[in-house]
Amino acid sequence: MLVNMKSIVDEADRMNYGVMAINSVNMEMVRAGIEAAEEERSPLIIQVGPGQMANLGHKEEIVPLVKELAERVRVPIALNLDHTGDFDVIMDCIRAGFTNVMFDGSSLPYEENLKKTALVVAYAHANNCSVEAELGHVGQAVDDDDYNLDLYTDPSKAKEFVEQTGVDALAVAIGTAHGNYPKGRVPKIDFDRLKELKETLNMPLVLHGGSGSGEANVHKAVEYGINKINVATDAFSIAKKSMLDALADDPDMDYVHMCKAAEYGVKDFVKAYIKNIGSNDRYIFEEKAFVKSNE
Ligand code: 13P
Repeated sequence: MLVNMKSIVDEADRMNYGVMAINSVNMEMVRAGIEAAEEERSPLIIQVGPGQMANLGHKEEIVPLVKELAERVRVPIALNLDHTGDFDVIMDCIRAGFTNVMFDGSSLPYEENLKKTALVVAYAHANNCSVEAELGHVGQAVDDDDYNLDLYTDPSKAKEFVEQTGVDALAVAIGTAHGNYPKGRVPKIDFDRLKELKETLNMPLVLHGGSGSGEANVHKAVEYGINKINVATDAFSIAKKSMLDALADDPDMDYVHMCKAAEYGVKDFVKAYIKNIGSNDRYIFEEKAFVKSNE
C-alpha cells in the first residue's frame, strides 16, 4: 500500500532500522523493488529525481505505476521526489501524488535553505505530504566531497534547522558522496558526528550516496541512527550488468527476457540490501490484513 513517507521513517526511527530508498525509473525497477519488499516483509521507498524524470519515469507515469503496484502488496511503500530545489516541480509532484518530497537547499546559504525548506514544509504538510531536507552538503564522490569536512553537517545548527522548519527527515553529510567512489575507496564515515546528530535531533536521519559505501559501513550507520539509505548508482549498475550478463550467456536473447533479467537482478539486490539494514520481517501477514512486528 502507498503511504506517507513520514510513517515509514518514523517507525524505522522508533525501532532502529534502516529503509532502502531506491531510485527507480521504469516498471521493471519499481516492480523489482516492491516485490522484494513484500517478500522480505519490509517497507520500501521508491524515489525519482527531476533529472531521471526528464528522461524516464515522468511523474504522470511513475505515480500511477507506483500506486498500482503498491496497492497489490501489504507492506508500506512511499514515493519520494528526490533532490529538488524548484518549488514549481515540488508543487506539481505533490499534486500528482508523491507521498514525500526532498527539498534540497544544501548548496544555499544556511538562512535561505532554512526559509525555503520551511515554505516547502508548510505547503507539503497542508497537502498530506511529508518532507526531507538536507543540511550540510552530500556532494559527489568524483570530486572527493566525501573527504571535505567543510561540507559535513553541524549538529548544533541542525537542531535549530529542524525546529524552525518542521521537516520530517533530515539528510546529513557525514562522509558519503553521490556516485561511484574512485576504485578501491570505501568512504570513511564520521560515526561520532552521526551519534551526536542522532542524540541531538532524535528524529529520522537519511544517508545519501549509499552506493559503494560498503555493507559494514551502512549496517553500522543504521545502528548509529540512519533510517533511510538512498541508493541510485548501484541500482542502475546492477540492472545494466544483469542485462549484459544475460546477453553474454545467450546472445540471441530477446528484449523481453533482457528486461526480465534486469528486473530479477535488481530484485535480488534489493532483498540483500533490506537484510543488511534490518528492515526485513517487520510485518506479520495474516489472512487479509497485516500487523506490525515489535520484535
Ligand atoms: P548514489 O547514486 O551514490 O547511490 O546516491 C543516491 C542518492 O543519494 C540519491 O539521493
